[in-house]
Formats: sequence, structure tokens, C-alpha cells
Amino acid sequence: MAATIILGAQWGDEGKGRVVDYFARNADYVVRFQGGANAGHTIVVGDRRLALSLIPSGILYPDCTPVIASGTVIDPKLLLAEMDMVAAEGLDPSRARLSSNAHLIMPYHHKLDAVIERFLGKNRIGTTKKGIGPAYADKHSRFGIRAQDLFDPKIFRAKVEAALDDKNKILPRVYNTLPMSADEIIDEYLGYAERLRPHVADTSLLLNKAIERGENVLFEGAQGTLLDIDHGTYPFVTSSNSSAGGAVVGTGVGPKAIDEIVGVAKAYISRVGTGPFPTELFDEDGDRMIELGGEYGVVTGRRRRCGWLDMLALRYAVRVNSLTAIFLTKLDILSAFDTIKAATGYRTAEGDFDEFPSQQSALFNCEPVYDELAGWGVDITGVREHSDLPKEARAYIDYVQESAGAPVKWVSVGPERSQLIEIP
Ligand code: IMP
Repeated sequence: MAATIILGAQWGDEGKGRVVDYFARNADYVVRFQGGANAGHTIVVGDRRLALSLIPSGILYPDCTPVIASGTVIDPKLLLAEMDMVAAEGLDPSRARLSSNAHLIMPYHHKLDAVIERFLGKNRIGTTKKGIGPAYADKHSRFGIRAQDLFDPKIFRAKVEAALDDKNKILPRVYNTLPMSADEIIDEYLGYAERLRPHVADTSLLLNKAIERGENVLFEGAQGTLLDIDHGTYPFVTSSNSSAGGAVVGTGVGPKAIDEIVGVAKAYISRVGTGPFPTELFDEDGDRMIELGGEYGVVTGRRRRCGWLDMLALRYAVRVNSLTAIFLTKLDILSAFDTIKAATGYRTAEGDFDEFPSQQSALFNCEPVYDELAGWGVDITGVREHSDLPKEARAYIDYVQESAGAPVKWVSVGPERSQLIEIP
């Protein structure tokens, strides 16, 4: 496995959690490189399900070190609560490592995320309200506060006061809301410092040494390519690089160290929040995908918008991430459809597209052009071998890999660990 990036090839919620779980069995390290508590994955411990946002799923395996790297934004209260939750399930959180350079989500980031969304009204992004955007904005404005600052109370105080100097003007004057107390925030956060101290590390050094030793390192993306701040459907995106480049920038591991880049794509597509979505369905086919696919968010519980697989978007994900393979999830959900569609072009008043448009307005105003493939109409949740899949399902897999330009190496046919097919 060596150094492998697993990332979402669509708008998030592709089922990365189960894919990471599959690879994590052989991983020495599982690394989160961007985002924060806006992501959510459910891990299964015995007969219990544990919903985690920050700690990578490598926590399940006693020999695996979960790492939260420098590109993330972390709410320390939430991280400690997750560690307690994990410990209560009999798992050992002591191995978890947090980069000293990771930025902290502060109480004013939560507040700003909520009031900015309210202020935007119908133009809102539909964020997860976890403070992600304001925390990354502070990072890039150089007002950010990093995990290492918790261990220098004088510096920490100075940084919080400087940040609040700015926020306490903006909160009442622009957003008509109450200012916040520096002392309360400082007391609360310094109270987390001692518990966090044994976990905080130079994770770039840790990971580079592991790679040098030939250990297996798994980089676990959150959100998806189309939510990437640079390559996604801006501004309806998250505030970090969820594409493959984020794994190197967000960890301090160089690009030449990466061996494999696996894109996870659902056999159809979904998105939560607002923003353009060319193949979105508003009919009973869409409702069926939502109900059969259990398409409700782990973090916010929101109903996801669903539609047919968009090959322009998947080809784009192959391109911007240099995907070496695709992991196609939830193929079993398509068993309910007589005909399966996949968008192969967009038609607009200004012209036709056969590649994902770089002009955002085309995504809002296009009509998808679909290829239609025969459905298979039988339950495939018990199939474990590629050769046992109905020929129509195999034809769909072939279609996806040919059209996307990267091999489909795995397919999942249900949520359980065993419901997975390796494609020869
Ligand atoms: P934020 O990341 O909370 O700022 O939200 C920005 C956009 O990304 C919104 O459309 C969210 O719905 C979306 N988003 C953030 N995290 C996830 C995720 O884990 N899955 C799917 N969408 C997400």
C-alpha cells in the first residue's frame, strides 16, 4: 500500500469511511489532512456505531496511529470529547497525534459561521456551521491560532486578544450580535492544553520517517473534489483543499512520496448544501436514491440532493487528482432502476460541453445529455465476485472506467465490511 491517498471524487459523502476502513487494516498511519468537524464518518465497533468527525478511523486498529495533520482546523473541545467517546468504547485514543501546526477553531469561528450564513440569506453556502470557513479565513489572514500556541499562555492570550479586537468590531457592527469575552475563551482553551499535550507532535516529521521506513500511510480526505476551495464549484465549496494536492500541503509530505491516489465515487451522485448540481433529480428516481441510499448527512442530518452519475465531474476528478484508481460505492442502490443514466455532456445556450466547464454559470444553466444503460433488476448485495455480477452491472462498471479514464478497482454492494468486490 505504501503512501495512499483516499479522497472523495464528487461532492463528499461518497462512502469514504468504509473505503478507509477497508484500507486501514494494513495501515500503520491514517492521516486527516484538511477540514475539521464538518466531516463525519461512522465506524462500527462490535454491534455499536460510533459517529466520529475528527479522529481518523485508523483508531479501530491497535497497531495504527491516527494523525490529524497541519492542514486541518480543530475544535479542541470536540477532539477531547471524541477521545472520551472512543475510550468509552474500549478503544485506545492515546496514540492519536495532532500537528502542532493545526489551526484551532475558536468560539468566534462558530459564531461567525452561523451569522454569516444568516446574513447571506438565499445566497448562503449551506455550511455545516462548524466554524470551518471563518477558521480558514483567519489562517490565511494570519490571525489564526495554532495547537502549539496552547502551550505558551502569554502568546495564546496575545493572539486571542488580537483576533477578538477585530471580531468584536465585526460581530456587533456588521452582524448585529454580541461581542465575546477574551478571558472566558482563554480560560476555556488553556484548560484543554494539558490533556492535549501528549498528543501534539511534529506530524510532518513523524510521517516522513514512517514513509522512509517503508510503512503504510493512508491519507484520508474529507468532503470531495467538487467541494475543493480551488477546484470545486466555488463559492459553494468548503474552505480547504479536499483534492489530492491537499494531502501533501496539509501534511508536509512531498508529492513524490505518494504512490496511489484512489478516488471514491458513488455509483450515482449527491450533494448537501446549496450550489449547482447539473444531474440533480427532482422526481421519484431521486427520492428512491435518497431513501434506498440512506442519503442523510452524518454531521447535520440533512437530506442529500441526489442524481445520476456525472461523467464530466468524474473525469474532472480523475484529472485534478491524478487518480490511479476509482472505488465505486453503493452499486447495489442502482438495482432498483430499470434504466441507469450517466451524464456525458452538458448542453447550454452558449454551447455544448463534454468536459467539466470552468465557467460556473454553465453548471447552473445546463441541460445534461445522458447515456442510458440497461439496469440489472436483481439484488446484488450478496455478490462477492466480479464474475457473479449480472452482465448489465459489469457493463456499467466498464462504462464508468472507460468514460472516467481510470480503472474501477473496487465496488461496494452494501454497507457491511464484507460487501465488497475486487475487480480483477
Ligand atoms: P463547511 O465545510 O461547513 O464550510 O460547508 C461548506 C460546504 O461544504 C457546504 O455545502 C457543506 O454542505 C459542504 N460540506 C462540508 N463538509 C461536508 C461533508 O463532509 N460532506 C458533504 N458536504 C460537506
